[in-house]
Amino acid sequence: MTDFSGKVAIVTGGSQNIGLAIARKFSDAGARVIVADLYPPDEEDLEFIKTDISDEEDVRVLMETIRDDFGHLDVLINNAGICLEVPIHKMSVAQWDKTMNVNAKGVFLMTKHAFDLLKAAENSAIVNISSIEALGANPTHAAYAASKGAVSSFTHNTALEYGPYGIRCNAIAPGWINTPFNEAFLDQYPDRAKVDAEIKALHPVGRLGQPEDIGDVA
Ligand SMILES: NC(=O)c1ccc[n+]([C@@H]2O[C@H](COP(=O)([O-])OP(=O)(O)OC[C@H]3O[C@@H](n4cnc5c(N)ncnc54)[C@H](O)[C@@H]3O)[C@@H](O)[C@H]2O)c1
Repeated sequence: MTDFSGKVAIVTGGSQNIGLAIARKFSDAGARVIVADLYPPDEEDLEFIKTDISDEEDVRVLMETIRDDFGHLDVLINNAGICLEVPIHKMSVAQWDKTMNVNAKGVFLMTKHAFDLLKAAENSAIVNISSIEALGANPTHAAYAASKGAVSSFTHNTALEYGPYGIRCNAIAPGWINTPFNEAFLDQYPDRAKVDAEIKALHPVGRLGQPEDIGDVA
């Protein structure tokens, strides 16, 4: 395992599931991990700064706190995301905007305001959590898929623009990861055992992805 002693990492949406698994991996490797989420994690050794990533003022305050406490940032994990289950013809503008505000604008705001802190570190990196749905489609996920497409595109531009400052940027596009995030989608299918078997059959490895798989990749 890479030694992250002395490194500072922010994990957005790090209070549960995939974000928590990523935060745990970095913390176990010695990093100081700050969870930026709407709700605190249950794990007491992880530092928490309440942040709504879709609110520019919240993001600005988060980065000011990191600057005052550490003076730099080594790792930014843009993990926080939401998904609303709505068919396109029934989707309100508010539902579209909410999805875009968290998933796409949130990544933009975090990336924008982390720039000076990432530049102040040596070999810093951003990891954006996109989705396989940036490349494919699931019914009722149009806004989510579009927002993750935006995350993937934004990752290319960030790598291009931040690279000359020594800041790398990559994205992970997870497939199906076994978290409650997917429950609302699964609730649409009455025969749960059948749909569970079908989803499992889509995975050549013979099991669903787990949050720790994404933690390892990050
Ligand atoms: N679970 C999957 O199958 C899967 C697959 C591909 C991609 N992803 C992506 O992985 C990420 C994490 O997924 P998960 O399954 O752990 O979801 P989750 O719902 O369990 O966790 C998301 C976290 O983000 C936080 N969050 C939501 N809105 C926020 C905001 N405005 N500001 C700050 N924090 C906010 C939540 O409080 C929560 O802790 C998401 O971006 C999701 O799109 C998940």
